[in-house]
Amino acid sequence: MAKATDFDLVVIGSGPGGYTAAIRAAQLGMKVLCVEKEPKLGGTCLRVGCIPSKTLLETTEKFVTARDRFSRIGIKCDNVAMDLPVLMARKEKVVDTLATGIAGLFKKNKVERMLGTASFTGSKTIKVTSTSGEKSISAEKFLIATGSVPIELPNLKFDGKKIISSDQAIALDRVPEKMVVIGAGAIGLELSSVWSRLGAKVTVLEIYHTTLPGADEEMSKLMEKTLREQGIAFHFASQATGIKEDKTGLKVRFAAKDAKAGAAAAETELPADVVLVAVGRKAYTGELNLAAAGVQTDSRGRITINHAFQTTAADIFAIGDVVAGPMLAHKAEEEGVAAVELMAGKAGHVDYNTIPLVVYTAPELAWVGKTQEELTTQGVKFRTGKFRFTANARALCMDEAHGVVKILADEHSDRVLGVHILGPQASSLIAEAVMAMAMGASSEDIARTCHAHPSLPEAVREAALAVEGRMINS
Ligand code: NAI
Repeated sequence: MAKATDFDLVVIGSGPGGYTAAIRAAQLGMKVLCVEKEPKLGGTCLRVGCIPSKTLLETTEKFVTARDRFSRIGIKCDNVAMDLPVLMARKEKVVDTLATGIAGLFKKNKVERMLGTASFTGSKTIKVTSTSGEKSISAEKFLIATGSVPIELPNLKFDGKKIISSDQAIALDRVPEKMVVIGAGAIGLELSSVWSRLGAKVTVLEIYHTTLPGADEEMSKLMEKTLREQGIAFHFASQATGIKEDKTGLKVRFAAKDAKAGAAAAETELPADVVLVAVGRKAYTGELNLAAAGVQTDSRGRITINHAFQTTAADIFAIGDVVAGPMLAHKAEEEGVAAVELMAGKAGHVDYNTIPLVVYTAPELAWVGKTQEELTTQGVKFRTGKFRFTANARALCMDEAHGVVKILADEHSDRVLGVHILGPQASSLIAEAVMAMAMGASSEDIARTCHAHPSLPEAVREAALAVEGRMINS
């Protein structure tokens, strides 16, 4: 018998959450359509987020290493210079390669795609608008994966040229002389690193008293110290209040607040050629017309879902940045897979306690599980093991002996509760900690696992040994 609807599932949005869910759903036997308003598949992460920024970070890190550190390890090279147009062109090529890769994966898995903007016309129907007109589509189920957009500050509205979001900060065609970055979150720190390495004088304004609110405070402070040493200036407990432009140029106004007394101080001004506003992102439900489908949002505009990713409309589901939780590509992927597995009657599940967070500075900061502050607030008794990369042989060989591994383990059970790594390749090292926590490992389990020598993961093992106060190499 012919089906009453065009598709079993329509996924709206092709970011890491949407495209992964579409492929998994097709693997599970569903007839799937993915609707995307941009010509390139991949969403924010691939087009203007994680991938372009990581290309810029990797390349500029190589550049400063060659310029500033090669001579001390015996590599002679003069006149090291960065060719910005080549850097930007290669970044686009990386993006295009990966976007084409998703299109290939869709073909391979028989996921149909449609270019256009989706709006609900009922709980089982959408219309898709594109330059070639409007099309009405029906489906048994919908998955909303429309992501997020940068938050704008009321007195610093984006103009795309001088007051910019991360969308433009990954594509500047010249290095600004002076750059003010508002927000010392992941985006602020990563893009400050890129432009500072390329020669901009970068100053970061942050409301909180150190970098990365929400990270383990010891690590945030180490991050702050490291980035200051790299030439980035910070004003903490400082709120950007506005901007003015006169004959002498652009100036960002900010009010520094005395963190202890809570008393407001006088406004100060900072000159800037470019101001990057990186104060967070907000759920994007744009043209979806959620009301027509009976889908509700919370006070922050995020789509409300239950434990099965189901919205207030029974056959409409939502995942990723458009719902509550950390705005991370891999969190969206996990949710996308779990959502369609649950739709297919399988046991989809996301372990929110083992989602790693990474800031791709140099060195990188990565963590999983609880911070020391969270455990203290919750009254959990824990033991701490720390190991510095200065005592890790491989890090020394690599000339990257900077940073520390910190493991927090339950005082009674020894179960690993949190792992925090500031150091070389922390984004990769954290995978062992994630696996350990997902398996419910103790610090002793990590300590008794054989690690290759010489290697960076030995630092994780030594930190686990340190929980018992029995590390060997420190
Ligand atoms: P964020 O929420 O991580 O950081 C924003 C920062 O701006 C906070 O430190 C906040 O205290 C500060 N702030 C807010 N208003 C301010 C004001 N008026 N003046 C001064 N400071 C102010 O947001 P961000 O960095 O924009 O990133 C957005 C999302 O994207 C986050 O959820 C982040 O986790 C995610 N992301 C993750 C990356 C990664 O995993 N490597 C990379 C980039 C983004």
